Amino acid sequence: MTQPSQLAWWQRAVFYQIYPRSFADGNGDGIGDLPGAIAKLDYLADLGIDAIWLSPHYPSPQFDCGYDIADYTGVNPEYGTMDDFRLFLEGAHRRGIRVILDLVLNHTSHQHPWFRESCAGRSAAKRDWYIWRDGRDGGPPNDWLSTFGGSAWEYDPSTGQYYYHYFFRQQPDLNWRNPAVKQAMFDAVRFWLDMGVDGFRLDAIGTIYEDPAMPDHGTGLTLVDLQRKAMEAQTDEDKAAAGKRWLAVFGAQLDQPELHDLMRALRSVVDEYDDRILVGETDDLAYCGTGSDELHMVFNFSLMRVDRLTPVHVRSNQAERLAALPPGGWPCNTLGNHDSPRIHNRFGDGLHDDALARLSLALVLCLRGTPFLYNGEEIGMTDLLLEDPADLRDLLGVWIYQTARDELGLPPEMAMYLAVTNSRDRNRTPMHWSSGPNGGFCPAAVKPWLPVHPNHAAGINVADQQDHPGSLLNTYRAFLRFRRSAPALIAGDYAPLQVHDRDLLVFLRRTATQRCLVVLNYSAHPGRLQADPALPPSGRLLFGTHREAGTGLALPDLEIGPFECLIVEV
Ligand code: NOJ
Repeated sequence: MTQPSQLAWWQRAVFYQIYPRSFADGNGDGIGDLPGAIAKLDYLADLGIDAIWLSPHYPSPQFDCGYDIADYTGVNPEYGTMDDFRLFLEGAHRRGIRVILDLVLNHTSHQHPWFRESCAGRSAAKRDWYIWRDGRDGGPPNDWLSTFGGSAWEYDPSTGQYYYHYFFRQQPDLNWRNPAVKQAMFDAVRFWLDMGVDGFRLDAIGTIYEDPAMPDHGTGLTLVDLQRKAMEAQTDEDKAAAGKRWLAVFGAQLDQPELHDLMRALRSVVDEYDDRILVGETDDLAYCGTGSDELHMVFNFSLMRVDRLTPVHVRSNQAERLAALPPGGWPCNTLGNHDSPRIHNRFGDGLHDDALARLSLALVLCLRGTPFLYNGEEIGMTDLLLEDPADLRDLLGVWIYQTARDELGLPPEMAMYLAVTNSRDRNRTPMHWSSGPNGGFCPAAVKPWLPVHPNHAAGINVADQQDHPGSLLNTYRAFLRFRRSAPALIAGDYAPLQVHDRDLLVFLRRTATQRCLVVLNYSAHPGRLQADPALPPSGRLLFGTHREAGTGLALPDLEIGPFECLIVEV
């Protein structure tokens, strides 16, 4: 059985995603930046994380909050300078924290010099770096949609052709079938690896190639239709049908076979360096290749893409994922990021949110695989539903608002509700460092780039939780420390027990030197461990939410309190 010492750093690590615009504002202009993040490195070291995923820090006109890159080897001046970046990287490394960057391969900003050169004329040297086509019958080349609304084609009047964009029109897709594109992007990858960054999270890899025949999807559906049908879906069949419909519309724009060659090529670049990694923004384990020739990890999104985490869901997710992992592959679990609702909202029930947040933490830290946390979850930050359309920063929200109001004729308040619950400003608001004005993120007199959630003044902030032993922040700290000391949680295999229980999630994690029983009660009622030949008779409590660590416990028939979490060495 594997021991932690046989694992690579990224298999032992807990990652923490920093969304730079909202994490910490060093220069007091209302926008997070690298000096701000540097000043919080001690906080992160003390929290007990091992690695940072930094969302895009590159120069960008910010049409998609940095996921529209205008220079792959620079630093957004709003966030600081290259020297600041170096200080950030060195500061993290000095504290034993690794740093991976976000790498957006599919598209650039429309303001990237490559795109500008590509627009210069039909015979421009970089014309073929992007995907240009003639129109058809006075309209776009085909009926493909952008996943952010409207046609996937934008007309360029100066050259009389259309360019393709899977995301916003300010994010033209690169033509990855052109070897020069690959060369230029791999140079950028080497630039950061040479500087010492520890790897990359690869944005939206499924979108990199399109079917070269560019067939119409022919369904006649628009994004609004798809979203409406997905929202109306109640039963599992409805949901499956919504998924199929989505694929019928976007199938030819996604997950083309050449992607595996590209991932292998990128992996060999990364493997020229010691110990660097690639994490794909996809849940398709096929991109782990043989387990050693494509990506090191892909996210287990199917774990989090549910309205409620239940033992039944977690068990079936684990059964499926762990069985599908290639030999040598390694799982990666997360419950939230900058694109998804906050954990507190998504998995809370409105009554026991704090207790459920602790179970979510226990789950992500105790399942087999590398956990990824999202900044702010450690203090229980919640979604902020904006009320004023002028506050919207996510263009997806703006598009939904305008479409719902102007095309669907909804009243403005309803259009706004649809916009904020289906876009991403809600989970990107500034981090709460204190209960003071603007949550201590920026000075009182400054307007932060997105409003700060008013609940920063009600205990949801770092300063108030810091010295409070039972706070969520201190639970995160204690749990992260404890995980480091528990080889079974890092390296152990996973064996579910009590597999028909609807309320208790029970599993063993086992290495040759340690066996841990993990018990999570997802119910507001007490549960009971069932006598079972696979259940060890007794053990010692290592970590728990309701009782003193060190207590000896007789396991069969043990009563488990509402929302209790127990980790018992057996
Ligand atoms: C996925 C990123 O996580 C998201 O924030 C972004 O809008 C799209 N990719 C486009 O880059």
